[in-house]
Amino acid sequence: MGFGTILKNGTKTISAVENAISSGYRLIDSAEAYGNEVDVGDGIQRGVIENRLDRSDIFVTSKVWNDHHGYRKTIQAFETSLAKLRVGYLDLYLIHWPANKKWHKDWRELNDSTWLALEDLYRAGEVRAIGVSNFSKEQLAALIEDNDIKPMVNQLEYHPGFAQKEAAKYSQDNDVLVEAWRPFGGPDSGILNNPVITQLADKYGCSPSQVVLRWLLQQKILPLARSSNPEHMLDNLDIFDFELDRDDMLQISTLPSDDGTHFDPETYHS
Ligand SMILES: NC(=O)c1ccc[n+]([C@@H]2O[C@H](COP(=O)([O-])OP(=O)(O)OC[C@H]3O[C@@H](n4cnc5c(N)ncnc54)[C@H](OP(=O)(O)O)[C@@H]3O)[C@@H](O)[C@H]2O)c1
Repeated sequence: MGFGTILKNGTKTISAVENAISSGYRLIDSAEAYGNEVDVGDGIQRGVIENRLDRSDIFVTSKVWNDHHGYRKTIQAFETSLAKLRVGYLDLYLIHWPANKKWHKDWRELNDSTWLALEDLYRAGEVRAIGVSNFSKEQLAALIEDNDIKPMVNQLEYHPGFAQKEAAKYSQDNDVLVEAWRPFGGPDSGILNNPVITQLADKYGCSPSQVVLRWLLQQKILPLARSSNPEHMLDNLDIFDFELDRDDMLQISTLPSDDGTHFDPETYHS
């Protein structure tokens, strides 16, 4: 289980990250684009001290944003994230979104040059693992074909009503760990009130969020859940003592598409 950090800048972010570590989370998912790496770093520092942990007990992720694609800018973005987080090294660094065909004639070369920066940071020991986020099957295949080191992670939007099965399957078939961002579809998705999910929660004697997180884990997908509520934080970690059966897994997987806004990696631009 990972802890997501799309949280407003300020003390709430610091205390959410600190509380998450005190609740038992060890994976903290951040990004330069969230604009709160200094506060996330403060929260990590407090959580480590409060719980008498070492830096090495915490797994810290960050991501290079779209306007820093390319070798030189990526190295600079990495150094800036590291300086803001103040954690000495990163455990995982990701390309947040791919350059795509719609916006970049040279999308493949651009992704390769960003990736080369990640490879060099990895070889230099500044980051323990490197990967991508929001890469489609085609974009990931191109990156794997062109480069020496294969991405270790592909972080995808993946939740009931929006499961990116093709990209996830291709990643897993190539031993690339899939992490699920926005596992609950964000604050207003209604997933946690969906009758299929709430009925399953009654059946298993657990909460709707636990049903969703089990559905992800049982597909060997690592969920990144965010919460500012300490009870929810604990609830989301307490998912290792039950198992959804096959029919129930299928029921969730075949829920109709939600009507949320989703960004397509082949066209997304920011
Ligand atoms: N790679 C990417 O492009 C990308 C994009 C978006 C997000 N992400 C990552 O994914 C993380 C998670 O996504 P997200 O933050 O958008 O949304 P999310 O985790 O799907 O949903 C967060 C919402 O769920 C609620 N919630 C959490 N646990 C709950 C529980 N047990 N019971 C009831 N409600 C609960 C939270 O409310 P409370 O605070 O009240 O608990 C909050 O409103 C992000 O924080 C970020 O790290 C990555």
